[in-house]
Amino acid sequence: MGKFQVIDHPLIQHKLTIIRDKNCGTKVFREVVDEIAMLMAYEISRDMPVEDIEIETPIVKSVQKTLTGKKVAIIPILRAGIGMVDGILELIPAAKVGHIGMYRDEETLEPHEYFIKMPDDIDSRQLLVVDPMLATGGSAIMAIDSLKKRGATNIKFVCLVSAPEGVKALRDAHPDVDIYTAALDDHLNENGYIVPGLGDAGDRLFGTK
Ligand code: PRP
Ligand code: URA
Repeated sequence: MGKFQVIDHPLIQHKLTIIRDKNCGTKVFREVVDEIAMLMAYEISRDMPVEDIEIETPIVKSVQKTLTGKKVAIIPILRAGIGMVDGILELIPAAKVGHIGMYRDEETLEPHEYFIKMPDDIDSRQLLVVDPMLATGGSAIMAIDSLKKRGATNIKFVCLVSAPEGVKALRDAHPDVDIYTAALDDHLNENGYIVPGLGDAGDRLFGTK
């Protein structure tokens, strides 16, 4: 079974409170989502493998650590996932970025895929699928189905706010996928919104309604 981790570092909790507030405007919302994504990337990359290499410091030859293992691709689920990409790229600047477009039908809450463009080597990369919200789990499950059909095997899902219903659904559908969230909230309301949540992440990031 994949890992399930709530990354509840004090800085992340503080910043999440800022964006949960309904009076937080688009500019600050965007900036803080970026900052939280960067802080989460630091924690998520903790298990990246390293190997020894010999270098020469100004003083002596020395064996030191360098990153090894699979290269990374960041896969934002459009639209809201886009808000997390730059923060992660700050720490992993060589990562490739693939996009997958999903929207939830507002009545049925069923996800629909409308766009996909991936790097051609996703089968050999560590994929970080990012979306601020994991609500029913439908969008994440369908996005990961689509990536697996294209050969992806090594997937971590990263979100800011999750509902217990979505976590369970994603773990049932894709038990191999590690899930990282900044907060595990209480429940979904009758409209499929996370409670207490932060509202519609895409609308708040892009200033739409
Ligand atoms: C939101 C969010 C997730 C999805 C989560 O996207 O960004 O992708 O809902 O809900 P689920 O877990 O129930 O599938 P939305 O469909 O509103 O599209 P948007 O990002 O374009 O606003
Ligand atoms: N999508 C969002 O953007 N917010 C929610 O609370 C649930 C799904």
